[in-house]
Amino acid sequence: MADRYAVIGHPVAHSKSPWIHAQFARATGEDLEYGSIDASPGEFALAVERFRAQGGKGLNVTLPFKEEAFQLCAQTSARAAAARAVNTLVLDRERPYGDNTDGVGLVRDLCENRGRRLAGAQVLLLGAGGAAQGVLGALVQQAPACVVVANRTPARAQALAARWPGTEACGFDALAGRRFDLLVNATSAGLAGELPPLPAGLFAPGSLAYDMVYGRDTEFLAMARAAGAQAADGLGMLVEQAAESFLVWRGVRPETRAVLAALRAG
Ligand code: ATR
Repeated sequence: MADRYAVIGHPVAHSKSPWIHAQFARATGEDLEYGSIDASPGEFALAVERFRAQGGKGLNVTLPFKEEAFQLCAQTSARAAAARAVNTLVLDRERPYGDNTDGVGLVRDLCENRGRRLAGAQVLLLGAGGAAQGVLGALVQQAPACVVVANRTPARAQALAARWPGTEACGFDALAGRRFDLLVNATSAGLAGELPPLPAGLFAPGSLAYDMVYGRDTEFLAMARAAGAQAADGLGMLVEQAAESFLVWRGVRPETRAVLAALRAG
């Protein structure tokens, strides 16, 4: 019988993960099936345990359960501990083990797929919620010249940046007069069709604006294009974090290029 994996979240019906992992399994010849589990809030731990009891070997965790998944784990990777969130559960052990592949997924999309060099770059991370927390450590590890965390509520940015030596924190107004090579939007503003109120002039020549939201052209990306910056949505990050999870579970890293191209082609 094929090994069983799934993505768990709420809602989860439109997740692309089952399709992505089916492509990875076919390309690598790994014998697995990958489904989806919609867990009601309050029933996450129960749903995980049920899947495990049925022989499930691993889960991808998506909104809104990543922090809860972290709490559930007896042991986690260093990167999951740093993010205080888990998006990859390994269940074929005595106790659940948690990892987080979101940060490396973003960095691989930036560096491998888009040829960007983060070392020495001026980096701006917008937002201080779960999405920002999940990727800040991976960005810092690339040794950029600076990382500024800016948030609508500055106190949240300060609390996040305080955990990463060398990073700065501020509100949006305080960004006036600064310029960045990479601007990552980790706010959920785009999901509501909103634009974080950013001062003009943030985009350095040749800069890249990256929105972690995918499947829609956000106001942030439209603004970046209008300012002459390159714009990227989070689809590549989605595929790269999936590939890294596949590696954690199966010990083999699938190629991502064809899968990403097929998703882009729609
Ligand atoms: P997620 O897990 O998606 O990061 P979250 O923890 O609720 O969700 O955080 C949402 C982030 O988007 C926060 O940084 C939030 O700013 P506040 O901390 O000030 O609430 C940010 N955000 C949401 N809507 C926004 C908007 N319209 N403009 C700017 N920032 C917004």
